[in-house]
Amino acid sequence: METLLVVDDDPNVRNLIIKWINKKGFTCLSAVNGQEALNILLQHQVDLVLSDIRMPIMDGIQLLKSALQLYPDLAVVLLTGYGEIEVAVDAMKSGAYDFLSKPIDLNILGISLDRALERRRMRLEIKHYQKNLERLVAERTRELQQVLDRLKETNLETVRALSEGIEAKDPYTRGHCHRVSFWALELAQEVGFSEEQLEYLEYGSLLHDTGKIGVQDQVLNKPGPLTAEEYEHLKEHPKIGYRMIKSVRALAPALPIIRHHHERFDGKGYPDGLKGLEIPLDARIVVITDAFDAMTSTRPYRGALSVEKALEEMVRGRGTQFDPDLLDIFIDRGIFAHDPTPTHTPE
Ligand SMILES: [Fe+2]
Ligand SMILES: [Fe+2]
Repeated sequence: METLLVVDDDPNVRNLIIKWINKKGFTCLSAVNGQEALNILLQHQVDLVLSDIRMPIMDGIQLLKSALQLYPDLAVVLLTGYGEIEVAVDAMKSGAYDFLSKPIDLNILGISLDRALERRRMRLEIKHYQKNLERLVAERTRELQQVLDRLKETNLETVRALSEGIEAKDPYTRGHCHRVSFWALELAQEVGFSEEQLEYLEYGSLLHDTGKIGVQDQVLNKPGPLTAEEYEHLKEHPKIGYRMIKSVRALAPALPIIRHHHERFDGKGYPDGLKGLEIPLDARIVVITDAFDAMTSTRPYRGALSVEKALEEMVRGRGTQFDPDLLDIFIDRGIFAHDPTPTHTPE
């Protein structure tokens, strides 16, 4: 059963209400002014306060405000004397549940108290429900995040498997995609890529040569220079890769790199002849790290260049093959010297 606190400086009114409340079976506490009532509230768990307005030391309005500050869910019903209706209406705006005019009609008092207690119960229930809901939402969000993380991991594993598949077809490029990706991520970090942009760059750089799956082996592994026709065939690989990956929605952000990693800054690259800043930033980054790895690796048609020679070669392509600003960062900040694998030796 709920506990009620009756506050009135008039002992006759107080006793009348206390007797009536006790008869109804509620636990009843009482106080003679607002201050005393506040002290009781601090010591007892009270569900409803039934208070007079005009009292010495602390009046009912002050009690209402202080009590609600301490216990926002407390139900407060005010008793108003003649001429206090306006005060009582203001009190309702401050959070009182109801007000009753003196002299008190015990039937009306009963209805008012029942209603106030019912409202309080509902309010507590809603609060409880909301709290549960918040907990549930937080739990589900956490679960969803875990699923997303797992999905991301799976994505990356799939991408790695695909890139290893390409390399298996072309033994000369073993580790190529990994190294291109490693340096591209380092360069992108220098440029200030966000976590999400880095993720896409990782997919794109690992998959940049996916289209080589569609290039004939004898062209891919030809130990000498390619004929014009063979070279045209090899140049198809960005478009083949683009077509392959286009339908995989999760990998869509990798597409600009796959398609444009052989564009040149002067517009003379392929497949679309994009020029300068028309070439997506991700792709301009991969153009640099792809070329660097190609030069420093052994290829069927030539041996590996030394790092110094490769850098010299690349500086010659500054502004023609490569984005000059990105190339400067790649060289000046020594990114080329970062070891992609602890045991890396140029192939
Ligand atoms: Fe390529
Ligand atoms: Fe490549």
